[in-house]
Amino acid sequence: MATMRRETGIAGLDKLVMGGFPVPATVMIGGEPGTGKTTIAVQSLFYGAKKGEIGIYITGISEPRWVVQKFLSEFTFYDETVIEKENIVFKEIRSELFKEPEKIIYKIEELVEKYEPQRLVIDPITPIKLSLKKTGRIREFFHELFEFLKGFNCSTIVTAEMSYDEIPKSIEGYMVDGIIMLSYPIEKDVRRKFLEILKMRGTKHATGKHLLDITLEGVEVHAGLR
Ligand SMILES: Nc1ncnc2c1ncn2[C@@H]1O[C@H](COP(=O)(O)OP(=O)(O)OP(=O)(O)O)[C@@H](O)[C@H]1O
Ligand SMILES: [Mg+2]
Repeated sequence: MATMRRETGIAGLDKLVMGGFPVPATVMIGGEPGTGKTTIAVQSLFYGAKKGEIGIYITGISEPRWVVQKFLSEFTFYDETVIEKENIVFKEIRSELFKEPEKIIYKIEELVEKYEPQRLVIDPITPIKLSLKKTGRIREFFHELFEFLKGFNCSTIVTAEMSYDEIPKSIEGYMVDGIIMLSYPIEKDVRRKFLEILKMRGTKHATGKHLLDITLEGVEVHAGLR
């Protein structure tokens, strides 16, 4: 049976994964501050929304819509009309995060049942993980959430604030279907951005670090370039 795929719409990235992420799948995009996690995640929501798909963007910061607008409206992929038409829905889970982390799962499930999105972004999941630590139920939380989303054939991107050396100890890394790491090593006084696919269940994918560029058009991956 051929694998169903959903394009990310990120130039150069789909080629690295044989045309798109397998569906359904939860893919973690990890990386240090400013490596491009949010840009990739939101760009892919806009890509889907322009084709009529529904996308949900979930974050712990307040007024996510305005924050995204402030930082991402310069990009050519940004389109106010898809937000007005609610093809992309921005939701914050701030109060749950600080007061009742065990309720986050119900809130996300409620949103997914209401909007039936093809794409969902949780940006970032790191604070959710930290707040759940107290409850000792991180693994159960991610297991339930990822299984639930699979039932909706949803393409999920979760961003993770982490560097390469934290991957082996990250519970979520073992549970997601794919891991993409972004980095910006310094080489000969020049810092450049890179993208590397470490894991993608159910598909062949390119390996190694590929040059990543952020321009006004958004993120672009240059397959094979180093
Ligand atoms: N118009 C632009 N042209 C070139 N580079 C840009 C442009 N806009 C943003 N960037 C780059 O994108 C980076 C921000 O990317 P983004 O917010 O997606 O990172 P992030 O990984 O989500 O960071 P954080 O962990 O802090 O949330 C900026 O630091 C800058 O390097
Ligand atoms: Mg970000």
